[in-house]
Amino acid sequence: AALVRRRARSWLRWGGAVAVVEGFEEGCATPVGRLRQVVDAMAVEMYAGLASDGGSKLKMLLTFVDTLPDGDEDGIYYALDLGATTCQVLRIQLGGGGSKIINHKVEQHQIPQELASSTSEELFDFISLTLKEFVEREENGINQVLDERKELGFTFSFPIRQLSISSGVLIKWTKGFAIEDVVGKDVSRCLEEAMSRNGLNMRVGALVNDTVGTLALGHYYDKDTVAAVIIGTGTNACYVERSDALIKSQGLLTNSGGMVVNMEWGNFWSAHLPKTSYDIALDDESPNRNEQGFEKMISGMYLGEIVRRVLHRIAEESDIFGESADHLSVPFILRTSLMAAMHEDDSPNLREVGRILEEQFQMPGISLKARMLVVRVCDIVTRRAARLTAAGIIGILKKIGRDGISGVASGRAKGKPKRSVVAIERGLYTNYSMFREYMNEAITDILGEEIAQNVVLRVAEDGSGIGAALLIATYSSKR
Ligand code: GLC
Repeated sequence: AALVRRRARSWLRWGGAVAVVEGFEEGCATPVGRLRQVVDAMAVEMYAGLASDGGSKLKMLLTFVDTLPDGDEDGIYYALDLGATTCQVLRIQLGGGGSKIINHKVEQHQIPQELASSTSEELFDFISLTLKEFVEREENGINQVLDERKELGFTFSFPIRQLSISSGVLIKWTKGFAIEDVVGKDVSRCLEEAMSRNGLNMRVGALVNDTVGTLALGHYYDKDTVAAVIIGTGTNACYVERSDALIKSQGLLTNSGGMVVNMEWGNFWSAHLPKTSYDIALDDESPNRNEQGFEKMISGMYLGEIVRRVLHRIAEESDIFGESADHLSVPFILRTSLMAAMHEDDSPNLREVGRILEEQFQMPGISLKARMLVVRVCDIVTRRAARLTAAGIIGILKKIGRDGISGVASGRAKGKPKRSVVAIERGLYTNYSMFREYMNEAITDILGEEIAQNVVLRVAEDGSGIGAALLIATYSSKR
């Protein structure tokens, strides 16, 4: 009888774990009908954000980029790319005629975590010194650099209100950055002041978001590139909009009849998004509550953390992780890269999952059944993220009449859409095959196989920085 009772108790506890996962799975569901609602909501919010500032949670920021590189650029250019966890410095040499990057050198530097909450001066000194050392090495000594003032492409991957193609004011920080004295300042000026403090003779010639850089590189290689998406620490998209649709710009004329718009889609929100109690708790405890809601469901900064929250709940509701699940209560302890490694574990009996749980979270001896449940949680989180990203992309295509369905919105007859290339960049897409698969699958689910064939997702490696350098080339040839 004691054995039966013990078994019954253990079954109940196991049942508790399964109930947590099943409840979570239900909350994260993204059937195609719901995805289509997200597509529509994205397109509607895009209109609203273009109509007036503050008209939508989508900021739809004007970038002043009205010409994209087309492959004819030539010369040597530098760029500095400030992301969230890393800062890249790079130099490219372009051959002109036919999209030839003869030479390109990229150096990646980790941003010390404490800088994310330091002062403006500390942050900009750090990045300008990193750049200076790189330029000196590349140019063999400072003299040459000082002689001739160089133009720099500056990729700054946070929401800025652009004043021109080369200047812009920080609206707010995202992705865990909190350096209050930069908010409201022109970040190009901040960088130029730091460069001159540190003896580097350069000026910012183009200030761009990482999505815009990625679009520029995508377009350099393929003229059908109409949008770009970043899925890394944060997530965002930009696309080419017709000037007459930029209602809030009040008749701003552009050379090409179009302009790149930085959507800041990380802040997108719609009641159709599948939000769970875990998402709500994550948001409540974040430094930017009620902001970046889409980003908090999709990007690398948060996916591992959502999984951690669910696992923590399982540990509370059951004993399948044994006595030693304390580490699961530490926020952000589960990095998304580890989560992906567990998700994609193809070793026999999920040995790798067991190793990660033991080494990273001091949870030894987790049973195979429990390890399978961990993988399932990772799968639910990633699948939702990937499918929502797909819906976002199709929302953009719908807005510009390239989804093959929305003839009404675009004023065109229904029919086969043009080939549309979307440049994509950053780890979650490039290094995470399950994410990629789920995203492609969702695009087909939403559009149907035939139309989906015209949507090409293309990786633009290092696009955020290289694209900024390319834009310097494009614009300096116009000046
Ligand atoms: C955040 C930033 C946005 C950037 C994105 C990807 O959402 O606000 O500007 O493009 O992260 O890095």
